Amino acid sequence: MALGSEGRDGFTTRFGIVCAAAGSAIGLGNIWRFPYVVGESGGGAFLLIYLAFVLMLGIPVMLSEFVIGRSAKRNAFGAFKKIAPATWWPLVGVIGIVAAFVILAFYSTIAGWTLHYVYLSVINGFKGASALDVTRIFESFQTSGAMPLFWQMIFIMLTAVIILSGVRKGIEKYSKVLMPFLVLLLIALSIRAVTLPGSVAGLHFLFNPDFSKITAPVILGALGQAFFSLSIGMGALITYASYFPDKTNLSSTSFQVSIADVLIAILAGVAIFPAMFALGMQPEEGGPGLIFMVLPNVFQHMPGGYIVSVAFFVLLAIAALTSSISIMEVVVAFLSEELKIARKSATLITVIAAAFVGMFSTLSWSTFKGTGIGDYNIFDLLDFTASNVLLPLGGLLIVIFVGWYMKQQTVKDELTNMGLLRMVVFMIGWYTKDDRTEEDRAKFTALRIRVYSVFMFIVRFIAPIAIAIIFLNAIGLIRI
Ligand code: TRP
Repeated sequence: MALGSEGRDGFTTRFGIVCAAAGSAIGLGNIWRFPYVVGESGGGAFLLIYLAFVLMLGIPVMLSEFVIGRSAKRNAFGAFKKIAPATWWPLVGVIGIVAAFVILAFYSTIAGWTLHYVYLSVINGFKGASALDVTRIFESFQTSGAMPLFWQMIFIMLTAVIILSGVRKGIEKYSKVLMPFLVLLLIALSIRAVTLPGSVAGLHFLFNPDFSKITAPVILGALGQAFFSLSIGMGALITYASYFPDKTNLSSTSFQVSIADVLIAILAGVAIFPAMFALGMQPEEGGPGLIFMVLPNVFQHMPGGYIVSVAFFVLLAIAALTSSISIMEVVVAFLSEELKIARKSATLITVIAAAFVGMFSTLSWSTFKGTGIGDYNIFDLLDFTASNVLLPLGGLLIVIFVGWYMKQQTVKDELTNMGLLRMVVFMIGWYTKDDRTEEDRAKFTALRIRVYSVFMFIVRFIAPIAIAIIFLNAIGLIRI
């Protein structure tokens, strides 16, 4: 295992870094949450706003987390404490830790459903089932209580096992090989979906914006989806970046990860909506069960559907795992570095707490059916609180921290990789052992500095103001 300068475990290869960050970002958020939120929020117009938010707000927040994490080389709470000692800033880390629990609770519910669908696929449980049967199979599972709880606990334990196997070995290894396969399967599913009779309406729904559907809560929902899907706003990427080596190019990593994340979400949309319209389902009626009610039908109508179905749910479960380890790691890194609890005990404590809260989430459709606020059950409330409240709040504070509190030289050093240490290494010469000429290098540096000024303008002004307005507008405190 690679040990960094301070004896901390760390990522080693460049490819490993992008894959681990992408592994965190790409998960149920893209394939499960994106289609159902788009369905509930009116389709194309939501998609456009979501894309704008990823570009204008998501990438800058991600980059800010990278800057904080790599410069402090601490967990989400410790990073604020180190950069801003004797201030209230570490509270941002506390918000992140709370958010991590809330997300882990409902995320593991859906990941558990995914594991059950691996099992159902293996036993060929959908053979000959009509669309109505597929829906019934899902609903009877969802409302059964014990089964979903069982799978959720399995998932939480799997996450813990990977966490305990260490940062580099665990995360890097699992992330990098498998995700390309998931993308290939999504492409195959999309092709099948768009060639089903009656599917065109689905593409129309996804890509033709109808702005009459846009309301203040829908806009907040787009922000929440962007933040959730990119894994930002609660310090998961602060924690990951604390394991990055000094030579990682933070800005290009944030672009690559965000673009991959968006493309996979859109691909999931192209696999789901055409199929849904072909089946005669309404986009807003799916809810959290959407993909589980739609995709088994698609599998049945494609050659090799059995194997595709098994592979798809296995890979989705793995995508969920590489995301949930990044969520759990926030808590484990905090407990072990700040409270000096051994990693093993820290993981155990986290597992027990997450399983406890998670139980309420999973039982939202059975034991706790009818418990909630308005139309929202416990599951919806956990998701809403994390995605639409805690993450935007965390993101807001993170950009203010980087834009206004941190020493601007530190931020610049992180973004340009031209900190003092790197200058020394550069002069010693081994950094120059690549095939770029001096001219290339000059261009490279200039480009990074341009990125810096655009970045600073966004994190100081655009992002804080935009996030604040979106949030206050949605809760009705201001009206625009
Ligand atoms: N982004 C992941 C997904 O799309 C979920 C996730 C992982 C996450 N880490 C996070 C969400 C941190 C918010 C914050 O499935």
